[in-house]
Order: sequence, then C-alpha cells, then structure tokens
Amino acid sequence: MLTPLWLLSLSLPTLWAEILIRCSYKGLCQQALVSGNDVVLQCDHPKALWYFSSILGEDPFLLSSVPNIKKLPGGSLQLTNPQPSQTGLYHCQDSGNALVVEYEIDFQDVSTLHVTHRGLGQKPLQNETLSLGGRVLVFTRWEPWQDCNRCGEPGERKRLGYCYIEEPQEKAMPCWLYLRGEKTHSSRLRTELQVEACLAPCDHVKETNQPYFIFDIYPLGKLTNNMWLTCPLASIYR
Ligand SMILES: *[C@@H]1O[C@H](CO)[C@@H](O)[C@H](O)[C@H]1NC(C)=O
Repeated sequence: MLTPLWLLSLSLPTLWAEILIRCSYKGLCQQALVSGNDVVLQCDHPKALWYFSSILGEDPFLLSSVPNIKKLPGGSLQLTNPQPSQTGLYHCQDSGNALVVEYEIDFQDVSTLHVTHRGLGQKPLQNETLSLGGRVLVFTRWEPWQDCNRCGEPGERKRLGYCYIEEPQEKAMPCWLYLRGEKTHSSRLRTELQVEACLAPCDHVKETNQPYFIFDIYPLGKLTNNMWLTCPLASIYR
C-alpha cells in the first residue's frame, strides 16, 4: 500500500503544479510569465549545465546552488516560486559546452496584478505611450482563455495578459526584458488577469481523470490581519 502513495506524492506535484516551457533545439525563446508560480524550463540533456544572467548584465553564473532552482534528472530546470529578480537569460548547454537551448524569461510581478471581471464591467488597462529615450507603446498581450472552473453549471474562467513594450516598427518585448533594470515610474507596467462567466458542458473522461486532494483547514488567527494563503498544487496558468 505504501508504494502507490509514495509514487502519487512524487509524481503529481510535477504533473499538476507546474507548466512546462519548451523551445526548439538550439533555439532562443523569449517568454513572459508570472512570478510566484512554479515552472519548468525544458532542456533534454541529462548532463545539462544551466547558466543564468539577470537583466542587470552581470556575468552568467552556473545555477547549482540557488535555493528555489533545481535541475531535474532529465536536464530540465525547475523553478519554485520564481521572483521578478530572477528575470533574465537561462542558458542550457551540454557537457561539451555546446548550446542546447536558451530562454529569456520575464517573471512579471504577481503582487501588482491588475484584476478585472468582465461581467462587472471592469475595464482592462489601456494602451499607453511612454517616453523612454524615444516613444514606446506599453500594451497587454493576452493569453487564450483558460478552462471553465465548473462544468454543467455556471462557472468562471480567466486569462492572463502580459505587459509588453513595442518600439515603432520593432518586435514587441516583455516589459522588463525591454527595460533591462532601467527605472521607470509608470503604473501601466503591470500584468493583468481577466475573469468572465462561462458555462461549459461536462467531459466525463476529463473529469474522472482529475485527482483530488484533501488538506487540513486551519482557522485564521485573530491576531493576523494580513495573511498569505497558498493553495497547494494550484497554478495561475490553468
Ligand atoms: C494596443 O497595442 C497593441 C500592440 O500594438 C495592438 O495590437 C492593439 O490593437 C492596441 N489596442 C488598442 C485598443 O488600440
């Protein structure tokens, strides 16, 4: 009886709590993500070496002893609770120093998330031009809507919108990869989350394959007027 339980606790967190970011072999992929939500950067090389350089331009350093970063057995990199300060270039190379894959990741700050509900008439952020040397456009690039959180009855669904900056005639970039540590005081530089009502039919195959979990519930203390709640295995990406 112990073995299946042990397997369950080992395999589910990686399957359910994290999203996998992929990029083609020898490619460089740029991506905006939300801080505080676990991700795995794929690199299929068991002896992979991962280097990181932040947007502040310091020399790349080997990622071997950063507390919230772990190399998985297949070579991919697992980031638990990544922080905005971990925005930068993640470079994966093989044992012969040849590039396997690179990711330029912008971990946009979850604590300044701009949340709106469509059904309540709340408006997402508007496009805005900023003057940073030249004129640049700040806008939100929306992800597709995620699945409805209920089926067969009214529910809600959400989508994420990342902060992007575009120079005239240039390809848009995630805001903090564009800014590279430059200090700007604009309240438009935020990531968005939009919510709307949905009604989705039930797909029984899908529903019955979802695991469920039981957790203890503790009453909130009278003395704490501010508390950080974490939902185990939850992720903003689904
Ligand atoms: C905001 O800017 C983006 C990027 O240029 C563009 O695709 C979008 O249509 C703009 N939205 C509005 C409302 O002008």
